[in-house]
Amino acid sequence: MSELPNWRDNLGRDGGHWDDGRWYDIHLERKMPQAIPMFEELAMALPPLPPGARVGDLACGTGNAAATVLDAYPQVELVLIDEDPDLLSIAQEKVGQFTRSVEPLRVSVPTDGAPLPGGPYDAVVASLALHAIVGHEVDRAEAESRYELLFQSILEPLRPGAHCLVGDHVGTLDLYAQLKAMERAGFAEVDCAWRQDDFFVAGGRKRP
Ligand SMILES: C[S@@+](CC[C@H](N)C(=O)[O-])C[C@H]1O[C@@H](n2cnc3c(N)ncnc32)[C@H](O)[C@@H]1O
Repeated sequence: MSELPNWRDNLGRDGGHWDDGRWYDIHLERKMPQAIPMFEELAMALPPLPPGARVGDLACGTGNAAATVLDAYPQVELVLIDEDPDLLSIAQEKVGQFTRSVEPLRVSVPTDGAPLPGGPYDAVVASLALHAIVGHEVDRAEAESRYELLFQSILEPLRPGAHCLVGDHVGTLDLYAQLKAMERAGFAEVDCAWRQDDFFVAGGRKRP
């Protein structure tokens, strides 16, 4: 067995063992209480999804957004997208208890505007994901351009009229700037469904 991480890594203000999927799941509510209503609000912000609708969970981690969407719409087809194989297998196990329509996709989400793999999608959800891909130590202009490229990647594999819903916090870029980046990337009907402190649910739609 490899050496355990130091327990004191969790004692600093921003500390924690966030890369460990099990640790992440048991600490998320304690460390970020707004994340739990955020998942719920994200699922509730979706338009009604018919059986067989294909939903991508972008940078799914342990699959919390996918699990919440599946709870609301048990007959959707899920695509779990993440670059971390350990997190992906936790996500697959979590949603696999409730559906067989789940496809894990171990890829790095493109950051150059290239199309997100695994489409076509009827909806893409991204929870606590975009800021993690864009990064924390980024200046405003660079963050705006990285968000725009990410939204271009997401838009391309959406079917006409399909939706992208984002649940995140504003640690990297303020909400208004994120919405503007979504519009610049070509999304229509861009709006915010919910906000609490620095957490929000927002989204947009590909033109039908
Ligand atoms: C904070 S976690 C969020 C996980 C999950 N969506 C949730 O809401 O609990 C961020 C996730 O982004 C993934 N990630 C970061 N950059 C990525 C990239 N370029 N491509 C794919 N996954 C990425 C990490 O592996 C991690 O699972």
